[in-house]
This record gives sequence, structure tokens and C-alpha cells, in this order.
Amino acid sequence: MFRFGLPLLLLVAFSLAGCGERGTLDAARGDAERGRLLVARYHCGHCHAVPGVPAARGLAGPDLASYARRSYIAGRWPNEPARLASWIAEPQALAPDTPMPNLGVSATDARDIVAYLATLR
Ligand code: HEC
Repeated sequence: MFRFGLPLLLLVAFSLAGCGERGTLDAARGDAERGRLLVARYHCGHCHAVPGVPAARGLAGPDLASYARRSYIAGRWPNEPARLASWIAEPQALAPDTPMPNLGVSATDARDIVAYLATLR
């Protein structure tokens, strides 16, 4: 019964390590798992539906499902990691008229949230 225990554990460990690596490459070294927790902590889900964050089911803002495959941020700017991080940290700097509030997200936190959004394919 325990014969498969270790190989299975190693397999899970390796596949988790693989995910982390991909997230890192996708979004300029952000920490995707930390980003997922930050989405909950900043209450982004009050306004957005975000896969992987159970409480995030808000409808006031766009659904962030498959965000890694979106071409544009808010329909206006190319969806690039640095641009997305500045949108999250200070949306009014890009779009003074946007209803998305400035939540005081630090640059580091924004980078990690971008890393998480980059995992949503
Ligand atoms: C009070 C509601 C509210 C909160 C809280 C909020 N947002 Fe938004 N967000 C919006 C709205 C509304 C838009 C659409 C803005 C626009 O199109 O100008 C938006 C747009 C966005 C977009 C671009 C969506 C697209 O379709 O390209 C992203 C990404 C985003 N928000 C991420 C976040 C993250 C991450 C957080 C938490 C740190 C957050 N938002 C918190 C309301 C909110």
C-alpha cells in the first residue's frame, strides 16, 4: 500500500515546482502563490471574479478568468507584465476616469498579483 507513496509525493512535488517556475518566467519574477493570497487580502474579489480565489466573485469589475490570454488591459493598453503591475498599483495613473479604485497596492505586491494573473490561462 505504501509502495506508491514516495514516487507519488515526488511527482506532486515536481509538478508543483514546475508550476512555480512557469509563473516566475511569465511575469518578471513575481511570486504567483503569494499573488493569489494578495488578491484575497486586498479584496479584489469584491469587484472581480478571480479563478482560484474562492471569495472572489464580484461583478462590479470585469471577470479576470483567463487573464493571461487577454490582449488588452481595460480594453486599452497591451497586456504586458509591467503595464499590468502599474494598473493594479495605480489605475488612475493610466486612466484618470477609471472606476477601479487605488487600493494602495505596493509595487512588490502588484508584481506578485501579476504573476498570479499570468497563471490564469
Ligand atoms: C471597487 C471595485 C474594484 C476593486 C476593489 C478592484 N477593481 Fe479591478 N477593476 C474594477 C473596474 C470597475 C474595472 C474596469 C475599469 C475600466 O475598464 O476602466 C477594473 C479593471 C481591472 C483590470 C483590467 C480588466 C480588464 O478587463 O482588462 C484588472 C486586471 C483589475 N481590475 C485587477 C484588480 C486587482 C488585482 C484588484 C485588487 C488589488 C482590483 N482589480 C480591485 C473595479 C475594481
